[in-house]
Amino acid sequence: MKSSLPDVAPYIQSLVPYVPGKPIEETQRELGLKKVVKLASNENPLGPSPRSIKRLARNARELHRYPDAAAYRLKQALAKHLGLDTTWISVGNGSNELIDLLVRAYCVPGDAIVTHQAAFVAYRISAQAHGVRTVESHVDPLTLTVDLGDLLGTLEKEPRAKMVFLANPNNPTGRYVGERALREFLQKASQIRNGKLLIVLDYAYWEYVTAGDLPSPESLLREFPQVVILRTFSKVYGLAGLRVGYACARPEILQSCEKIRMPFNLNSLALTAAEESLGDLAFVKKARKVNADGMKLWEKSLKAMEIPYLPSQGNFLLINTRLGLGKSGFEVFDACLKKGVIFRPVANYGLSDYLRISIGTAAENQFAIKVLKELKK
Ligand SMILES: Cc1ncc(COP(=O)(O)O)c(C=O)c1O
Repeated sequence: MKSSLPDVAPYIQSLVPYVPGKPIEETQRELGLKKVVKLASNENPLGPSPRSIKRLARNARELHRYPDAAAYRLKQALAKHLGLDTTWISVGNGSNELIDLLVRAYCVPGDAIVTHQAAFVAYRISAQAHGVRTVESHVDPLTLTVDLGDLLGTLEKEPRAKMVFLANPNNPTGRYVGERALREFLQKASQIRNGKLLIVLDYAYWEYVTAGDLPSPESLLREFPQVVILRTFSKVYGLAGLRVGYACARPEILQSCEKIRMPFNLNSLALTAAEESLGDLAFVKKARKVNADGMKLWEKSLKAMEIPYLPSQGNFLLINTRLGLGKSGFEVFDACLKKGVIFRPVANYGLSDYLRISIGTAAENQFAIKVLKELKK
């Protein structure tokens, strides 16, 4: 008898999964290298907050218990930190889970999410996984900044658009939308279809921002009822491996996500480490300083090497390898990998002439700059 397999949903069949940064251990194993520096996943190069590590060791003794499904203590700490009521906060297994919950709660197959061409790829993946279309607006081909007029136009034209995703600053470009332009956009977007549209602002890199004209997430929440803010512990708090993110929005909006999230979506170590790291202000300050210093070093070195880059508000920056090195982003990635430096190719964003570099420690940056210089010769 001929065996057959059940049919996979067509939108799952054509789904291109997320490609993570190449792990250090895998690179060492495959290439037989001892020293490998990873500047590929916008992680905190200083490691986790030291206070959270201490707390983890104590909490390991409670691992036979289920975690607190209500995330009571973490939510209390976040509420205090943000000046919001706990009902305005939902926690997720990374902010990636919250992206997924929002799509599942607010879209049905055939609906659409709207974002722009250079947006974080997780929005599209979550949408497609649920049979939801992604409609993209334009970015400026040179500066890769989002064209907010086109984004609004796209939202108006797409009758089944349920939500718009805008990361500020954006990954992988590092570009941001300033206060005036953002408020104007939010005013207009919140009137589309009588305020039915959810406006998701992804502030994953907010803690690294140095520009003075980026509006604080809390101020936007109070002003615009349809806004959802996404935040994460994966970046400045150095807890990417534990997977903790959170969403802030009006309770009426978050209740739908709360209904469908799996019980115990955050493990107990993640809950306590995140809570502890919120209070580790000295660590956050240090991480911001290391990033700002590293960014300066990269900018200076790239200018000296005549490799064009896009100014960034995150803990990473995008270089134009075609103009700077006469090669595609992947070719430069591959050449650097062989010398023990992992960068991140971004062809999956339609940016095959670019490469994304995460800012590392001073020593990591210097090593990576040396490797890049060798390619320039
Ligand atoms: C813009 C943006 N949003 C969300 C995330 C996901 O973060 P998390 O680790 O909290 O899932 C990332 C991670 O790189 C990101 O760049």
